[in-house]
Amino acid sequence: MTWKVGLLFSETGVTSIIERSQLNGALLAIDQINEKGGVLGRKIEPVSYDPASIVQKYGELCEKLIVDHKINVIFGCYMSSSRKEVLPVIEQRNALFFYPTLYEGFEYSPNVIYGGASPNQNSVPLGNFLLENYGGRIFFVGSDYIYPRESNRVMRNVVRQGGGEVLGEVYFDLESGGADFDDTLADIKRAAPDAIFSTVVGQSCIEFYRAYLAAEGDAAICPIASLTTNEGEIAAIGPEASEGHITAAPYFRSISSPENQSFLEAYKKKFGTTVDVTSCCEAAYCQVHMFARALEITGEIDTVALREALLGMRFDAPQGEIKIDPDNNHTYLQSRIAKVNAGGEFVIQSQVRRAIKPDPYLVSPTIFDLHFRQLEVAESG
Ligand code: ACM
Repeated sequence: MTWKVGLLFSETGVTSIIERSQLNGALLAIDQINEKGGVLGRKIEPVSYDPASIVQKYGELCEKLIVDHKINVIFGCYMSSSRKEVLPVIEQRNALFFYPTLYEGFEYSPNVIYGGASPNQNSVPLGNFLLENYGGRIFFVGSDYIYPRESNRVMRNVVRQGGGEVLGEVYFDLESGGADFDDTLADIKRAAPDAIFSTVVGQSCIEFYRAYLAAEGDAAICPIASLTTNEGEIAAIGPEASEGHITAAPYFRSISSPENQSFLEAYKKKFGTTVDVTSCCEAAYCQVHMFARALEITGEIDTVALREALLGMRFDAPQGEIKIDPDNNHTYLQSRIAKVNAGGEFVIQSQVRRAIKPDPYLVSPTIFDLHFRQLEVAESG
């Protein structure tokens, strides 16, 4: 007998770079748990489907996992549009869904444990960082679906409350690339913003950074700031087109802590490289470990009992200590801002002293009470 869990991450299609990293994070944690004998003497057995980055497929495959495989615990999804497909299936079947991805907030389901950053943990600090270090004239670009549009609504408030202005807001199809960005890049050049806030995701994110460099965009004058451009995308973009650009996330591969070093060593041993280790990969890894601890307490896969065991649980994550907030099923997370150096690695510019409580409905003011620590960064990058 095993404990079966479902994995719903795309190994193909436009968001496969980031979703493969999430899949790997989950598989690594499952390996580690099984190497120690599993949970209560039973191994965890993953059943994985590839939705190929096609939004409707996430709902269909989620149903398949629950109905055909009799699985009640599922880890999955990157794009918020895919989470919205899965949500009614999970709720109708009273399953438990772990979502290891930053998102736009403004959602709560008793059937979901949210492991990625909410806007107060990434958008708000990033907006304030840009206002403080670059200026308040910001141009928004995004992929055309719920997360970028909602995330920009939040960022618009942050920018305007900080005395800045939004110079433009443009959305692209998920398949966009190359010349599709020409008109917008010309508009950006004319508007001369202090920074570009990008919620362009997946393959077109890679194309956008390259197109920005080709259009003589200069990160030293006007960086692209993002919540979704992680290590995997940076590796695909290449160092020349990514140097000087900025990302806010709870986790970066470059964190120097013993917990992160052992995470990276284990990842390298299993997958041969750490090139694609991202904040979403780390979130998937942590969520699987926390699920296993909850299962040890409940001894059964029961949504209500597992949720009870998970709420309030702490975990020594590679990013530092995290905790599932019993108020809203989201996670207390670290908040960091990093800039890409000439070698294509994120150099952390600032970080909070301890994990921030998730505030998915943004009831706290968006002018950030700066308990951020600006780091002395030796490197010029
Ligand atoms: C996202 O769509 N939540 C990145």
